[in-house]
This record gives sequence, structure tokens and C-alpha cells, in this order.
Amino acid sequence: MTVLSHEEASRTYDRIGALQDSQAFYEDRATDLLLRHGEFESAEAVFEFGCGTGRFALRLFEEFLGPDARYRGVDVSPKMVSLASARLAPYAPRARVVLTDGDPPADEPAESYDRFVSNYVFDLLSEEDIEAVLLEARRMLRPGGLLCLTGLSTGVGPVSRTVARIWSWIQERRPKLVGGCRPIELLPFLSPSAWRVRHRAEVAPFGIPSQALVAKRL
Ligand SMILES: C[S@@+](CC[C@H](N)C(=O)[O-])C[C@H]1O[C@@H](n2cnc3c(N)ncnc32)[C@H](O)[C@@H]1O
Repeated sequence: MTVLSHEEASRTYDRIGALQDSQAFYEDRATDLLLRHGEFESAEAVFEFGCGTGRFALRLFEEFLGPDARYRGVDVSPKMVSLASARLAPYAPRARVVLTDGDPPADEPAESYDRFVSNYVFDLLSEEDIEAVLLEARRMLRPGGLLCLTGLSTGVGPVSRTVARIWSWIQERRPKLVGGCRPIELLPFLSPSAWRVRHRAEVAPFGIPSQALVAKRL
């Protein structure tokens, strides 16, 4: 399995920058499901791991969050942090975006958020990092808080499975070409003793398979 190091991910996404938003044509179907099932209207504190250009967070503020809700996004790419900070400036100081070294968010206080969001980031992490980030997510969420994830998946029908296989083939050989992302299944990472899955869906706009997952922290 080929995985970008945190430094490689930082450099890759510095180069991609605002072009990341061009992925909306296949990402939005899955992130729309998160917005529908993540109960963001009642959220008081949202954390986003790998916030990119801040596009999802802007939708949260414009359409879902209440007037007192706060948001903290982190990203490993300085370019993404600057794009997201500029985009969310109208919502400062409730919205804050912070540059990290790519490590799991161990410095965030325990039980301080009620939503932990990550869109199309787990699919570029190593399995060890996914497990470590999920441990932190559980620690950071208040009991009953929601984990809200989207990402590339391995597909459900013949077309999307074939697209996923081709994507994986490219990712193995030229990972930077696909931003380091590869199709994976997130469900097996969620221990039933830690999370109760509330919503799970597979979508495949233009044949590109994605999953959306909302799970309650037990
Ligand atoms: C495929 S982009 C998705 C961006 C955004 N979430 C979206 O859906 O448009 C992956 C993002 O995760 C960030 N990223 C990658 N590895 C990371 C890590 N270990 N910690 C924090 N951010 C990371 C990248 O810099 C990039 O902004």
C-alpha cells in the first residue's frame, strides 16, 4: 500500500490548492448526505480534520449552524489553511483554522466537540493513522456526539467497482496524481463498542464511488 507521508501530503495539497474544489462533482453527493444526517443544526462545536479550502465549513455556517456554534478546522497544508481562513473570515472568531503537522489531533481537549467531521481525508491516511485519528475523535467528542465521514469507497456495482480498481492501480503507482487518495472501506475501522452507526450510504456519481458515514460516539 502506497501512502503519502505527512510532509508529502502537505506539499501535494499546497500544489493542488484551490483546484481541490473541482472535485465537488463527485464529492458533493456524499457530503450532502453528511449535511442531511449529521444534525448540524443542533451542533455547538464542530471539529474538521483536513478541512481543505473550507468549502464544507462555509456551507455549515451559511445553511446549518446556529448563531453560537463554533468551528475549528485543521489541515496539514499551509495553502489550504490560508484558503480556508480567507473563506471563513466572515465567521471569525467562531471559525478558526489551524495548521498542523499531520499528526492525530492529540492536543484538542477531551469531550469538547459534538461533531467530528472529515471529508476525503481518511482515504489518504495509513491504516495506523486512521485508527489513531479515530481514537482522538472518540476522546474529543462528548458522549452522544457524531462522527461524520466521507471518502472514496471500493464501489457497489460493476461500474463503480471497476472505477475503484483503476483508481487504486493509479494510486499505487503515481499516488500524487490522485492526491494520495485510494478507495477504502471505513466501516471496519469503527469498533461496535465505541461507535453506533446511524447512517451509511454508498453513492457513485459519474461512476466514482464514495461513502458517507455518520456514527454516534458511545
Ligand atoms: C482530498 S483533500 C479533501 C479536502 C476537503 N476535506 C474536501 O473535502 O474538499 C485532503 C485534505 O486533507 C489534508 N490532509 C492530508 N493529510 C492530512 C493530515 N494528516 N492531517 C490533516 N490534514 C491532512 C490535505 O492537506 C487536504 O486539504
